[in-house]
Amino acid sequence: MIDKARNMKFISRISTLALLAGPLFLLGQCNYAGNASGMHFFLDMHDSPAIESQEEDPSTLDEIYEGNYETTMGPLESWGGPGSASRTAPEGTVARNKDPYLIPAADFDRAARELTNPLRPTKEVLALGQKKFNTYCAVCHGNTGMGDGPVSPRFDGIPSLAGPDSLVLNWEDGRIFHIITVGRARMRPYAAQVTEEERWAIIHYINLLQKQGQ
Ligand code: HEC
Repeated sequence: MIDKARNMKFISRISTLALLAGPLFLLGQCNYAGNASGMHFFLDMHDSPAIESQEEDPSTLDEIYEGNYETTMGPLESWGGPGSASRTAPEGTVARNKDPYLIPAADFDRAARELTNPLRPTKEVLALGQKKFNTYCAVCHGNTGMGDGPVSPRFDGIPSLAGPDSLVLNWEDGRIFHIITVGRARMRPYAAQVTEEERWAIIHYINLLQKQGQ
């Protein structure tokens, strides 16, 4: 009888301790340092399987780009090579805050027909065009558009945009907009670097260089 009573007492002490230990242990995980988040129990809940943009994606390490740059590389194409976590947007999706550019890369004629320059060549527009042209285009095409930028001795086939023999003299604004937006062969797309407005301003500036070049 006595033993049983002792046992009961012992058990109740143990369970009181256990009841206290739980909350005490949890409290112990709190700290006033502010930046530390204590012990982590369910790692999968804060380390999500989504791959951050600068992280390596092991599932693409063996991938090679098999597409045809000339016809398929468009502004939505962002695959960054083997191991890249940047993926090409699935078909039919639109990036946030971006108007989809629906003219296929190979269809220069349609761009020439459908797109017109919404800007007037004011002083401000030309200044913007000059700034962006000098930043993004002049390295190859040259400050005056003669195809003689500092990169040109090492990069074959950079055409003149403004010289008297330049084919671009006959190009409609929409055609130039198209090549800046989607690129062609070794001329890479610049849609990620220059906004639509800046592209139209660049085009006004190229027109000015063309007038000066003749
Ligand atoms: C890295 C060098 C490089 C840069 C930078 C560059 N281009 Fe080009 N560009 C080229 C090459 C090379 C071609 C010829 C592409 C081809 O062979 O189809 C070309 C072609 C062109 C053409 C068509 C010319 C023709 O005669 O067919 C235009 C227009 C043009 N680029 C405008 C621009 C504009 C505007 C920019 C700046 C936003 C720019 N390029 C930046 C290399 C460059």
